[in-house]
Amino acid sequence: MDYFHYKEGKLFCEEVPVEAIVKAAGSPCYIYSANTLREHYRKFYKAFSALDPLICFSIKTCNNLHIIQELVAEGSGIDTVSGGEIFLARKAGADARNIVFAGIGKTDEEILFALDQEIGIFNIESAEEFENLARLAKMRNKKVDAALRVTPDVVDEKTHAKTKTGYKGSKFGVDIDKAIQFFNTYGKDTHVSLCGIHIHIGSPIYSPAPYEIAIKKILSLIEELKQQGHAVRIFDIGGGYSADYEKGKSASYEDFAAVIVPLLKPYVEKGMKIILEPGRTISGNSGILVSKVLYRKEGGHKKFIIIDTGMHHLIRPALYDANHFMWPVVSDGISNEGRVVDEKGEGLQAYDVVGPICESSDYLAKDRYLPEMKKDDLLAIFTAGAYGMVMSSNYNATCKPAEIMVDKQQVFVIRERETYEDLIRSDKKSTLTV
Ligand SMILES: Cc1ncc(COP(=O)(O)O)c(C=O)c1O
Repeated sequence: MDYFHYKEGKLFCEEVPVEAIVKAAGSPCYIYSANTLREHYRKFYKAFSALDPLICFSIKTCNNLHIIQELVAEGSGIDTVSGGEIFLARKAGADARNIVFAGIGKTDEEILFALDQEIGIFNIESAEEFENLARLAKMRNKKVDAALRVTPDVVDEKTHAKTKTGYKGSKFGVDIDKAIQFFNTYGKDTHVSLCGIHIHIGSPIYSPAPYEIAIKKILSLIEELKQQGHAVRIFDIGGGYSADYEKGKSASYEDFAAVIVPLLKPYVEKGMKIILEPGRTISGNSGILVSKVLYRKEGGHKKFIIIDTGMHHLIRPALYDANHFMWPVVSDGISNEGRVVDEKGEGLQAYDVVGPICESSDYLAKDRYLPEMKKDDLLAIFTAGAYGMVMSSNYNATCKPAEIMVDKQQVFVIRERETYEDLIRSDKKSTLTV
């Protein structure tokens, strides 16, 4: 669900024509719908409300300060994986107690920053990390809560190999069969209270089944830990809930909740706190990337559309073979309201949609059926609000696009388009005293 829709062949974001936005803001640009973002958060919370959960929006998916502020205003906590993300979350007004901090490579500086900010919970990914946190917490004379990230050895086969995380041998977390030993070793630390379990089985996850298997495995681990004298009072079940890259291809919030809530409710009734870390499902459909057609050409048996955005602004197709639905911002007559990626039909032709970057992997779509487009026509790339702008780069000395947010009829620039001057802003030469 989102508030991007066609009216008489023209794409609107909420109440504003996208063409008018691009005319004012330039191309390419990211455009976010504030009400899609809010509504996703509200619907997600509602689906899981029986658990009275802490929802921690995963800002690795979209970290514009104004986007984070919108979700903090809704009551969201924040899932972070770096000192920079904690900084952004705090700048956006997030309550430090509602911040969780994961990541396998937390530096001393990041841990000290997190300790000083008094964040809610550290998600611990190794024994050495636990020992380091305990040392630094003692040094700062702080008492903190920690959850052990466990790999439950569960995957969704549909998840791309590069974004599977919950399997044995992944770089994340600690093997489930080592968890009890971990609690026995570190469960009595004086500065770090090991009181939770964290999982994140990959992303996106398209159905509730992998969560069901993983949660059941963790609940029996929690029972075993209890028998050994370790009380687990926090269970963070991570993120992964799919976004609608194509309509109807993933489970709804209600579908996920119907499986997850009954498993966890008895534990919540006994005082357990549940944390969820949704990312893409909140922000993915809240944003589009709009780009302009530069050129067309043919090569071999291929027809190409060359646009003014590419892997430097949206790397998911190049990195994960991701399929983003795309369609002209103004489309006379032909529509694809179902956002079916592989739709073929009258008036449509197969194109490779590629960007300007000097890499063969710089494509946005291959063999994609689109209406005929010509120079200066605008193309909207949908479900780009997650892992879009956050993964953009200045490769080939290109400037990052502007970010725009629409709230009903109001339009805001929430991040300015970069200029050539931005490309050299940090290139300062100074003497380093060694
Ligand atoms: C620990 C953790 N939590 C949450 C997320 C968010 O995942 P998604 O955006 O698929 O919900 C990720 C993504 O990598 C993650 O690593």
